[in-house]
Amino acid sequence: MNDRLKTIVDLEKYPIQDLNSPKIKEIINKCKTDLDKFSCATIPNFILSKSLKIMNTELEKQVDEVFMSKKSINAYLYSKDDPSLPKNHPKRIFMDRDNGYLNSDLFSKDSEMKFLYEQEELLKFVSACLGISPIYRWADPLACHAYNVMRPEGILPWHFDSCEFTLSLMIQKPEKGGIFEYCPNIREPGNENFEEVKKVIDGDRTKVRQLKLEPGDLQIFKGRFTLHRVTKIEGNRSRYLCIPAYVLDPWRVNTPEHSKAIYGKVLPIHLERNKERADGLAD
Ligand SMILES: [Fe+2]
Repeated sequence: MNDRLKTIVDLEKYPIQDLNSPKIKEIINKCKTDLDKFSCATIPNFILSKSLKIMNTELEKQVDEVFMSKKSINAYLYSKDDPSLPKNHPKRIFMDRDNGYLNSDLFSKDSEMKFLYEQEELLKFVSACLGISPIYRWADPLACHAYNVMRPEGILPWHFDSCEFTLSLMIQKPEKGGIFEYCPNIREPGNENFEEVKKVIDGDRTKVRQLKLEPGDLQIFKGRFTLHRVTKIEGNRSRYLCIPAYVLDPWRVNTPEHSKAIYGKVLPIHLERNKERADGLAD
């Protein structure tokens, strides 16, 4: 194990370097149960406070380089209407979005977050919690471990992620609002479940759950199959999160459309690897 990892993760509480230790086995079991049931698991105070400060500082240093996107968007991350679909189809419902990313390719070489993402210990721990192996780090050079910035009044409407599994690492909480809401297991490979998706977008709260994350907490989340959103940021403080992502396909990256809309640019890799998804889900 690299010595730097123990300055970032609370390895006393969460010995992810030794997946056979009873302590971590118990945590993995709890996460697996929560992920199976709710598509989501939380590990409190995973990151040490000193490291959290380093992450906060490295983001604030580059906060002017954050790409903010304010396009109105549907739950499948598109802003283009498809008039061939029925008028009330969820793909034709567009919602306000005001959300930004510090793209992963802008991170400094010795970045705290980038280092953490590249550790095998973290990947193996997440894989064990999910009960899925192998999983891979995302090949998308812009999105793989981006910092997410939501400024006052910022909002992230209902959507599905392109990557299968997302970690959310809370760095700075807003004064109010900015609550993560999600509907577990609403779609699965081969089944979009448009009817239920539409109900949630229209305001049905029956299946909606809320998650309160504190700075330092780590969330593991099945974002491709779980409709989710972040409510409006209230007060003057921005919400900072890091979103390292894991995938089932080590080759795939974001579509050129998503990359342009969400991360502000398209790289050759996005064009070269723009193929149909194997799971048949809208993307
Ligand atoms: Fe998301």
